[in-house]
Amino acid sequence: MGCSLLPLFVAVLAARFVVADPEEHGPVDGAPPSKIAVVGAGIGGSATAHFLRQHFGPEVQVDVFEKGEVGGRLATVTVNHNDYESGGSIIHSLNLHMQEFVKQLGLKYRRNVAGKMAVFNGEEVILEETDWYLLDLFRLWWRYGISFIRLQMWVEEIMEKFMRIYKYQAHGYAFSSVEELLDSLGSSGFINMTRRPLSDSLLELGVSQRFIDEVIAPVMRINYGQNVSIPAFVGAVSLAGAQNNLWAVEGGNKLVCSGLLKMASANLLQAQVNSISPIHSGEGLQYQLSFTTATGTASELYDIVVLATPLQASVGSGVQFQGFTPPFDELPGSYHSTVATIVHGYLNTSFFGFPDPRLFPFASVLTTDTPDLFFNSVASVCPVNISAGFRRKQPQEAGVYKVFSPQLLEKSQLKTLFRSYYSVQVTEWQACPRYSSSQRLPPVELHPNLYYLNGIEWAGSAMEMSSVAAKNIALLAYHRWNRQTDMVDQRDLVHRIKTEL
Ligand SMILES: Cc1cc2nc3c(=O)[nH]c(=O)nc-3n(C[C@H](O)[C@H](O)[C@H](O)COP(=O)(O)OP(=O)(O)OC[C@H]3O[C@@H](n4cnc5c(N)ncnc54)[C@H](O)[C@@H]3O)c2cc1C
Ligand SMILES: *[C@@H]1O[C@H](CO)[C@@H](O)[C@H](O)[C@H]1NC(C)=O
Ligand SMILES: *[C@@H]1O[C@H](CO)[C@@H](O)[C@H](O)[C@H]1NC(C)=O
Ligand SMILES: *[C@@H]1O[C@H](CO)[C@@H](O)[C@H](O)[C@H]1NC(C)=O
Ligand SMILES: *[C@@H]1O[C@H](CO)[C@@H](O)[C@H](O)[C@H]1NC(C)=O
Repeated sequence: MGCSLLPLFVAVLAARFVVADPEEHGPVDGAPPSKIAVVGAGIGGSATAHFLRQHFGPEVQVDVFEKGEVGGRLATVTVNHNDYESGGSIIHSLNLHMQEFVKQLGLKYRRNVAGKMAVFNGEEVILEETDWYLLDLFRLWWRYGISFIRLQMWVEEIMEKFMRIYKYQAHGYAFSSVEELLDSLGSSGFINMTRRPLSDSLLELGVSQRFIDEVIAPVMRINYGQNVSIPAFVGAVSLAGAQNNLWAVEGGNKLVCSGLLKMASANLLQAQVNSISPIHSGEGLQYQLSFTTATGTASELYDIVVLATPLQASVGSGVQFQGFTPPFDELPGSYHSTVATIVHGYLNTSFFGFPDPRLFPFASVLTTDTPDLFFNSVASVCPVNISAGFRRKQPQEAGVYKVFSPQLLEKSQLKTLFRSYYSVQVTEWQACPRYSSSQRLPPVELHPNLYYLNGIEWAGSAMEMSSVAAKNIALLAYHRWNRQTDMVDQRDLVHRIKTEL
């Protein structure tokens, strides 16, 4: 586990959406679009702007609307002159889009500072990482039998199939829905995995209940704040993230967002989009966006619009759909709130059964699904800029810790977890979908040239998932505009790409 921790994904369903009519895409004369809008400048919207520029070329105007901070759920807070990630923090070495962005932008990798992990059940530490890998393996084997190996093979197989997406995208193939995308990667198996609980899949695999309770549940709690009833696909994505080879961006992950917007020569508008409506005119189909800036309200017409923010009511994007027939129903489902509390102080190691802090060897503590626990995890965190000589603070020293909890921590709870503290900074996130295996995945195409990025979160919520969705939407918008139906929802790509080479 990294210097700090990761979370997230979900499934919504079948909002009534209009089936795309090919006549309504690009103009028959083949003219390129002149203006494209992206709503949201998180990693999803920023990456979309970048890929749109790549595919549509230098002429098109790309406007990106952001009502808050560029970066969205990638953000930092400052403690004692250092910045710390308060949202998305960990990137996996196989997250190829993120890796490519960092390379193209000339950003630097932040190394992972070693630190041991433990699992706490409310009374005692039940599982701990040691210095010695073989000993850990042996202990896991002793305690859980074959579970550990089975699980590892299962996650690896899923990762390997998921990695096919990079090849498809490099060849320019796009998908009109998250289901089509998943189906092309792992056939019906992946879609089924979005519809059944993780615990069922693991039990079927032969993973023991004890392993699920003591290892899997704590990882789901730290990543999603949810239990092992979340869909198996979401669970597998976060288990891949619990492996080694994790990194982050020096200076803060949000630097990727501002960098991508700049590289794409996108116009960033500090504005809240209030409504979107379809307009049929001599120009064909366009969308009118009305928005509020610091100086007032305005509106603008666009040929293509990408919504790169969750649209569930609980997240409060504030975007209204006007004049669509049939009208849009609100997207079903809701987001799960996770509170990230960054505390500068002294950890109360007694709480974990270590009265002498000098004997407390852990950098992060995960928790089992225990009703009385008021937090999901607590971890010592490293600043986004670390110098060569950086070392983690010892538990007897004042350090910076990140606590994830489902609710705001009360003062008495903070005083239980920390012997004393200098500062406390709280960020309340609508972190990821509130997963359920009965939810269906939301649509990508809401209307002929109107796309929705964040449906992918219901299959997995992570920076890389938003980046994969961004590339897919840029390709899809391009092929739809140019009526290239042979590049969308193609079957048997694994085989076809082999023979194309
Ligand atoms: C606490 C936490 C920890 C996480 N840890 C990890 C991790 O370790 N690794 C990982 O890969 N992922 C992690 N994630 C998930 C990751 O952060 C998200 O999946 C990703 O950042 C989502 O990016 P996005 O661009 O799709 O959405 P967002 O970042 O939510 O961006 C949407 C943007 O749209 C803007 N917006 C909304 N409505 C409007 C409007 N009407 N007009 C204009 N702008 C609007 C918002 O202000 C926001 O900036 C974590 C998330 C949280 C909250
Ligand atoms: C997925 O579910 C469908 C319908 O229940 C079933 O027909 C199919 O065989 C399943 N696929 C896999 C790979 O399990
Ligand atoms: C997981 O949480 C959901 C929603 O809070 C609940 O309905 C379900 O029973 C829980 N499952 C387990 C295995 O605890
Ligand atoms: C942190 O790192 C970023 C990216 O390398 C750099 O631009 C910034 O100046 C650094 N800040 C400090 C305080 O060193
Ligand atoms: C620390 O934890 C112990 C054990 O739960 C508790 O008794 C104590 O009140 C906590 N707070 C401090 C400041 O030690």
